Parts: sequence; C-alpha cells; structure tokens
Amino acid sequence: MSRALMINGLTAPVPVIQGGMGVGVSLSGLAGNVAKCGGIGIISTAQIGYQEPEFEEHPIETNLKAIAKHIRRAKEIAGGCGAVGVNIMVATRRYEEYVKAAVKAGADLIISGAGLPAVLPSLVEKSRTRIAPVVSSIKSASVICRLWDRKYKRCPDLMVIEGPKAGGHLGFAREELEKITDAEYEKEIQGIMEVSKEYGAKYGYHIPVVVAGGIYDGTDMENALKLGADGVQVATRFVTTYECDASDRYKQAYIDAEEEDIVLVQSPVGMPGRAVKNAFILDKEKDKPENWKCHQCLEKCNPANIPYCITDALVNAVKGNLDQGLIFCGSNAFRAKKLEHVSEIMEEYKKAAGMCE
Ligand SMILES: Cc1cc2nc3c(=O)[nH]c(=O)nc-3n(C[C@H](O)[C@H](O)[C@H](O)COP(=O)(O)O)c2cc1C
Repeated sequence: MSRALMINGLTAPVPVIQGGMGVGVSLSGLAGNVAKCGGIGIISTAQIGYQEPEFEEHPIETNLKAIAKHIRRAKEIAGGCGAVGVNIMVATRRYEEYVKAAVKAGADLIISGAGLPAVLPSLVEKSRTRIAPVVSSIKSASVICRLWDRKYKRCPDLMVIEGPKAGGHLGFAREELEKITDAEYEKEIQGIMEVSKEYGAKYGYHIPVVVAGGIYDGTDMENALKLGADGVQVATRFVTTYECDASDRYKQAYIDAEEEDIVLVQSPVGMPGRAVKNAFILDKEKDKPENWKCHQCLEKCNPANIPYCITDALVNAVKGNLDQGLIFCGSNAFRAKKLEHVSEIMEEYKKAAGMCE
C-alpha cells in the first residue's frame, strides 16, 4: 500500500513532515535534507534572517529576503525530491508579507499556527502553494474550517494536529499541559479527524491529517498511523541531526538532557512553551540590555512589559550561547542519545509506514 502523503496534488513519498522550528533551528539545511529523503522539509520563517548583517537595522525586510534564499537553497539540496514548505506563525508581525514572500519564492506548503490563520486563503490565491492550519483542539479545527468554508468556499489542503507534547510555544493553557493524558488527547485527535472528514466531504476532497507532538521513533509513528493519521509531523527528533541548522551546543543540550530537565516555561509573549532547563531559565533577574532594540518579531508583544526578549533568547540559544538562551524542545528531547543523519531517521520512519526499502 502506498503511504505517500498527498496534499491536494502535492505528493511526499514518505508521510513525514519535519516541523518548522524557530529561531533558526529549521532552515534550508534541515528542510532540504528531509525533502531529499522524500519527506516535507519545513523552514521556520521566525526571524529567519537573523544571521544576515542587515538584520539588526531592518529585521523584517531582511527576513522577507531570507525566505526566498532559504527556499531556493532547500530545493537545491532536495534535488527535486519531497517538498519544501515554510512555517509562518500567525502571531508574526506583518504576517501577510511573510506569506506573500513565501508564495512568491515558490513554497510548496505553508503551515500556520500560533493563532488562527483566518485570512491565509486570500493570500495564496492563484498560487500552487498549499495551506495548512495548525490546530490543537476540536474547537479550533471547527472554527478554522467553518471560517474558510464561509468566507473562501474552501477547506484546508492539510490539517496539522499539534498535541501537548510538542516543542516551542504551545497552544494549550499550562494547566491543560500538566494534566491531559494520552488517552484524552487521542479522543481529541479523533474528534479533529471527524471535523476534517466533514469539511472534506463537502468539497469532495480527503483532507489529509498529520499528527504532531511527541512522535520520536518508528513505534510512535505507527501509533499515530493506527489512529488514522495520514502522516506525522516531527520536530524534536530532527534537532539532533548533523543536518539541523542549530549550533552543536544546542544539539548537545538535548543529548545531555534527562527527562526531568524538560520543563514548561511561560514565554514573555504570554504563551506557555517547553524548553531544556538551564541557567537562563533559572535566572530570576533576567532583563533586557541597556541599549536593547526591538527585533519586530511578534504582533502582540509590548516591549515595555516583557521580562526579556524572546528573539534574543532564541537567537542566543541557536547560536550556542546557551547561558543566555532559551532552548526550546519537545517533551521527548531527553530521548536523544547521539547525533544522527536525517537519512537514518527517515529510513526508520519509512519502515514504520510499512514502505519497502
Ligand atoms: C525547537 C523548536 C522550535 C519550534 N518552533 C516553532 C515555530 O517557530 N513555529 C511553530 O509553529 N512551531 C514550532 N515548533 C513546533 C514544531 O513545529 C512541531 O509541531 C512540534 O514540536 C512537534 O512535536 P515534537 O517536537 O515532539 O516532534 C517548534 C518545536 C521545537 C522543538
């Protein structure tokens, strides 16, 4: 049986999407290599231009240029295999310009969460870019499907269900994250699949659904497929690869982490997140430097009210300046024991999907 992930005419031979990881953790290197192995590589557009010299002065314009650069590079690495997309958080300041830049650069897919991507369909009209909302609950899945149905007479090309074990900013209240069980969340996943079937039926289209959050090895993937998912979205496992765009120190922090080192934090932008416990998290006196300048990342951030800058904390981490950095990770980061090649991980997932060698 073919297990290819079919997204409205876009086919990934291996039903694995590598989840977007900002800042700078999934750029062209990682995304291109996942695509090369037949999956879908996702570049995070969160402060994507942070390495460019003009970033400090003109962050948004630099990011917009870097989107095209990384999509082009990732596609070169992929050599025509798999697909290359981007993750653009709805919470991004000037979100619409990021989406348009990605469409113009030929992104195969845009995945958008951290808010409700209400206007996304209007921004990709007449393009070949497929669109997928990230949903965490039956409620959010219903809301976005109803909205796109009413306003744009369409359904999502793909739905990403992101559960409580994911990394980065999380779409749950902290209390939910602390108490929700696997069995409870499986029910939620099934409910979301019902929503996708309902809206798919209306448009004569099977909306593929991928499950994200806590999928680490082949067995985790098999379980997700048994639940009825068309594929999986995996992020944390890909961090400890040679091809991942983060610094070696960032990767080593995952390898060194024990289970009790993976903690929930309250991000300065109000959402809970998950990260590796380190000196930065434990520092109660965190403050912005004297001459600090806002990097224009999130729409709703008020620089006057934040204890520290999320861009600075994530950029420090990805560069390996860990004592001043926030090391975002999924709940399974402690399972990393060594660096691997993307190709090895993809082989494991191919087996789990029952695909021949
Ligand atoms: C280091 C890191 C950074 C992330 N950054 C983003 C991001 O910028 N935007 C987003 O929508 N999701 C982000 N995520 C979530 C992933 O895309 C993915 O859906 C989730 O982590 C999957 O769970 P897993 O890490 O257990 O595989 C991030 C995850 C990690 C681990």
